[in-house]
Amino acid sequence: MKLAARVSRIAPSPTLAMTATAKAMAAQGLDVIDFSSGEPDFDTPEPVKAAAEAAIRAGFTKYTPSSGIDELRQAIIDKLQSEQGLRYEKAQVLVSCGAKHSLYNVAEALLEAGDEIIIPTPYWVSYADQALLNDATPVFLPTSEASGYAINPDDLQRLVTPRTKAIIVNSPCNPTGATYDRKTLEAIATIAVRHKILIISDEIYEKVLYDDATHISIATLSPEVAAQTVIINGVSKAYAMTGWRIGYAAGPKDLLTAMGNIQSQSTSNPCSISQKAAVAALKLGGPFTEKMVVEFDQRRKVMVERLNRIPGVTCRMPEGAFYAFPNISGVLGRKGPTGPITSPQELANHLLKEAHVAVVPGEPFGSQHHIRLSYATSMTAIQRGLDRVAMTFEKLSA
Ligand SMILES: Cc1ncc(COP(=O)(O)O)c(C=O)c1O
Repeated sequence: MKLAARVSRIAPSPTLAMTATAKAMAAQGLDVIDFSSGEPDFDTPEPVKAAAEAAIRAGFTKYTPSSGIDELRQAIIDKLQSEQGLRYEKAQVLVSCGAKHSLYNVAEALLEAGDEIIIPTPYWVSYADQALLNDATPVFLPTSEASGYAINPDDLQRLVTPRTKAIIVNSPCNPTGATYDRKTLEAIATIAVRHKILIISDEIYEKVLYDDATHISIATLSPEVAAQTVIINGVSKAYAMTGWRIGYAAGPKDLLTAMGNIQSQSTSNPCSISQKAAVAALKLGGPFTEKMVVEFDQRRKVMVERLNRIPGVTCRMPEGAFYAFPNISGVLGRKGPTGPITSPQELANHLLKEAHVAVVPGEPFGSQHHIRLSYATSMTAIQRGLDRVAMTFEKLSA
């Protein structure tokens, strides 16, 4: 069959693919330790489940308005007003089937052939492929591990062309766990406003922060910046609701109207029951997430400390999200049973085969030097998994 050319430009999500492989191996009875999955290992909070049950019992099981129910859009408006001090009308808010879908709606509404979107590296896997699916060109803005993955405004300025349509801001960042400070956000905003570039601010990990890290939404810098920013967020990470598929976007009315039209012709409304559940989640506010973050914090410290003890591995302490992103350059080049291991992908394959440990290689995040391990898993799994990683690396010969 002759498929559309755009399909050949993309690959399946490598994180989802690795998680699926790990699950399939576990289903065969293998003792797999899965560090690949990007979801909290906590159960969805009880009040959220109760709201979903009540929705089912009340027969709230039909189509809803395509852009989301008023109650949820209002809850999102209230959240953005009370937590960020941002004001949006209903027409500026769209509820979608997860933040990934919200991002896809932005890409489809905004991008055309020849358009460019600036993506700081390392980046979350779907940004580039969503641009490619919409015939646009991802333009990568390299950042360095040594600088804590900070954006250099001069580097950003140099990448701007008349075809630049958007820049991605993802703080806290998946995979690096880095956060942007006010100065960095101001520098990005100045360039974006000067060149009329849309800022796509993916704030899905806004509540997963450690030590004294804070989250600043770039849209709060000024009304002018807000007018040029679309905020992407959702309930997946903060409320352990990855399977419920509710995300949202808030931003300029013309963009959001276009995204709503796309959604009405593609998916229609996100699941009615999940929307009711998301209202309950947003009403929970901070305490549920704070409890999770206390646990993530303990696991973060153990995972990073143990990774740093492995010869050839160095790992920066992440400030947010729930991923360690160790640099494994010192391990690359060592020999395994079938010859030298020369890339993060080969190392990830080796770990899965030899140690039954699933990690995501750095390549799809834009790095040839790292692998990503999620610490949203039990402390026991972290300890056992890192024993295996250390032993497996030790066995590789120089
Ligand atoms: C940075 C980032 N943005 C967006 C998403 C999508 O989240 P969801 O579609 O589950 O709401 C993820 C999920 O892993 C993510 O890591």
